[in-house]
Amino acid sequence: MTVDNAIFDQELSAKNFTMLRSFIEKSCGIKLADTKKSMVEGRLRKRIRALGMSGYKEYLDYVMALENGAAEQLHLIDVITTNKTEFFRENNHFESMTNQILPLLADKGFGSLQQLKLWSCASSTGEEPYTMAMVMAEFFGIRGNFAVYATDINTAVLETGRKAIYTEEKAQSIPFDLKKKYMLRSVERADKLVRFRPEIRSKVKFARNNLKENKYVVPEKIDIAFCRNVIIYFDTPTQEMILNKICSYIRPGGYLFLGHSESVHGMTLPLKTFSPTIYIRT
Ligand SMILES: C[S@@+](CC[C@H](N)C(=O)[O-])C[C@H]1O[C@@H](n2cnc3c(N)ncnc32)[C@H](O)[C@@H]1O
Repeated sequence: MTVDNAIFDQELSAKNFTMLRSFIEKSCGIKLADTKKSMVEGRLRKRIRALGMSGYKEYLDYVMALENGAAEQLHLIDVITTNKTEFFRENNHFESMTNQILPLLADKGFGSLQQLKLWSCASSTGEEPYTMAMVMAEFFGIRGNFAVYATDINTAVLETGRKAIYTEEKAQSIPFDLKKKYMLRSVERADKLVRFRPEIRSKVKFARNNLKENKYVVPEKIDIAFCRNVIIYFDTPTQEMILNKICSYIRPGGYLFLGHSESVHGMTLPLKTFSPTIYIRT
């Protein structure tokens, strides 16, 4: 068998990297620094080989062409985005939900008489929205009146989220009692896979949503929105524009959670601080 290694010998030209960068920034807000060039080359290489193309130039001509481009642009975005996540990531957020925020909302009839609407706006492969659903189920019971909307720009990660199947290793950060309550083990034990039970799966609804676009696919009057570890990829004006749009989907009095390394410092937003990285929509 002959393996075509030509693509491994090529470099993405400075001109093509600039073109790719401005396309990515325009379409999804992600700013690719100069230092990301070799990361981009590596990720594109795999896609180019899968399509049987000769190299970066042929691929970029194809992806930027009006005719076939649109479908491939989704793949390109899938390839470029960074989807690192985990269950109970930045766990003090979930503790604040359980100990401070949910009791306040429950007192007002939310979660029982009135539905609580939660949103994970960069859900990646589902670990964040399923963690939110487990925290809600622990507080209100699995029959609690709540829904978790999980959105992301990357179509591949949404598919993983919908399947709700994870390796036992990934599920290690879920406390044992919650795993027992909300997950099922694969019949084939050797596979070392676990899956969320249908009761939890039915609480989480996945859909593609690009935060850079004008209209979002989630309903209005969201009660709790998680926008964690995504705005770090955008420049400050884009962060401010996107956070303002996200706020327009949160009801006054609702909550916004940002990642621990993210900040709204210097931005004009309809938010007041509840605790560090947790905000209330004014
Ligand atoms: C690092 S992950 C964060 C996942 C999760 N929120 C967490 O904190 O663990 C960032 C996610 O943001 C998504 N993303 C990047 N740009 C986006 C955009 N313009 N609209 C929606 N999602 C986007 C990526 O596809 C990726 O899944």
